[in-house]
Amino acid sequence: MGPGDLKEILQHLPQIKDADVLVGLDSSDDAGVVLLNDEVAIVQTVDYITPICDDPYLYGQIAAANALSDIYAMGAKPFTALNLCNFPPKSISKETLAKILQGGLEKLNESGAKLIGGHTIKDEELKYGLAVTGLVNPQKIITNSGAKIGDKVILTKPLGTGMSVEAYKKNNITYEVFHNILSVMARLNKKASEIMLKYQVHACTDITGFALVGHSLNIAEKSKVTIQFEVSKLPIYPAALTEFKKGNKTGVSKAISNTYESKIHFSDNVPDYYKEVFFDPQTSGGLLICVDEKDSAKLLIELLANGITASVCGAILEKRDYPLIALMNC
Ligand code: CO
Ligand code: CO
Ligand code: CO
Repeated sequence: MGPGDLKEILQHLPQIKDADVLVGLDSSDDAGVVLLNDEVAIVQTVDYITPICDDPYLYGQIAAANALSDIYAMGAKPFTALNLCNFPPKSISKETLAKILQGGLEKLNESGAKLIGGHTIKDEELKYGLAVTGLVNPQKIITNSGAKIGDKVILTKPLGTGMSVEAYKKNNITYEVFHNILSVMARLNKKASEIMLKYQVHACTDITGFALVGHSLNIAEKSKVTIQFEVSKLPIYPAALTEFKKGNKTGVSKAISNTYESKIHFSDNVPDYYKEVFFDPQTSGGLLICVDEKDSAKLLIELLANGITASVCGAILEKRDYPLIALMNC
């Protein structure tokens, strides 16, 4: 099942018409938002993933960072969380499960969210993640729909996690290299989100399973604009780029490119291996921030000063034939 099928299925669910639902099912945004009162809106999201590494503690950390990320993409603060865990009791020991949950809890503590419960169920395949509730000032919600012509586009983590996971499985990269990538995946988008809130940010999303192409398309379509990427400016893990250059692809990227390739126009000088970067599904990827042009340099400098691997990699244009355009250099 590809991302297009999911959209199709969701279309058949009844639409909720409720003035207090500020961001609902129909919006394809990062999280749902409902108004509690004039000062506070509740932001809710759920994400869980299968293991992407052998280290249970690190897997728990990454799953939690990935689940918390949608709260940060909306400009909200995590408040409470619930664990979700499907586990195979025959192949996963209690000790391993405990380490996964400890890893998740460590990230929750870092986020400031309180773990208040959870649910576990037996399953053939291990899966772990969280349902997270955040709080936001209803005037300050950052959605996918506010990008403005002239905005600069900033990405706050390198791309290529999908390719890196695959490359490690095939022994194409060392554990040392892979571990460095995993530790970036375990990093919260907390600091990046807090920093962006100081500037005139018009739209934001986080890059996860639908790859750069799918998540940026949400912003382009909801904001009724075209996003122009400068391919040479995209942050990419060097090890992943090497794999792309070898012509390697991930299992999932084909479904993603089938769904989205008609939405993106690549200029003739963009090599095929760079196109694959757009179709590489991310786990716990960075924030894609659309910021007012006059604030973009200041935002970038503050992100970099805080050790965040960010770059200005695109701009918002008026709506063209294609919602997404990728040039090698602008
Ligand atoms: Co998201
Ligand atoms: Co999500
Ligand atoms: Co959003």
